[in-house]
Amino acid sequence: MKITFYGHACLGLQIEDTHILVDPFISGNPKAAHIDINTIKADYILLTHAHQDHILDVEAIAKRTDAVIVSNFEIVTHFQNLGFEGHPMNHGGTWDFDFGSLKYVNAIHTSSFPDGSYGGQPGGFVLEGEHKNIYIAGDTALTFDMKLIPMQTKLDLAILPIGDNFTMGINDAIIASDFVECDKILGYHFDTFGYIEIDHEAAKRKFFEKDKDLMLLEIGESLEL
Ligand code: NI
Ligand code: MN
Repeated sequence: MKITFYGHACLGLQIEDTHILVDPFISGNPKAAHIDINTIKADYILLTHAHQDHILDVEAIAKRTDAVIVSNFEIVTHFQNLGFEGHPMNHGGTWDFDFGSLKYVNAIHTSSFPDGSYGGQPGGFVLEGEHKNIYIAGDTALTFDMKLIPMQTKLDLAILPIGDNFTMGINDAIIASDFVECDKILGYHFDTFGYIEIDHEAAKRKFFEKDKDLMLLEIGESLEL
């Protein structure tokens, strides 16, 4: 599985020939000005919740790629009403897609569309695919619900928000990685705005001191899992 960081909470996942884009917010992110949304491939677009910093580029990318939008029922219905293709899910549900299985799991956050309309309840995804399992937490607080994940899935990577203020910060993300029983962490949802700027070296050191590996990718950089 190849994972590319497009800045903020946006990720591109490649599993064999399938391209999965998560929470596209690129054109509104000055730090991602070198990423051209017209070159991003997407067979599926996964959305954790309806906030602007997670859905800004959905319409432009889905229009070009005909990607299937996967999210909670309310978000998928919103995009289906605009003519896009979608696959609705809700908390606790798993579906077998051609790239692997996805489970929509709990997140503690909010989920309104930019105009204030209801965006369902926020979530995260557990993806089991190509012999690698990952957890994409979405925007969330630390929650005991995370302990449910390793009861069924042995994770190879946990993708956790670390920017604090709107989500978990470093200290809670370290506990979250204990809860999900995964010591390999990709941090996201940091540095984009003033509220969520972090000290990279201090963050990595804190994880290292707990025998955990926090990876922080440059925008546009990829890792192979
Ligand atoms: Ni949010
Ligand atoms: Mn966010």
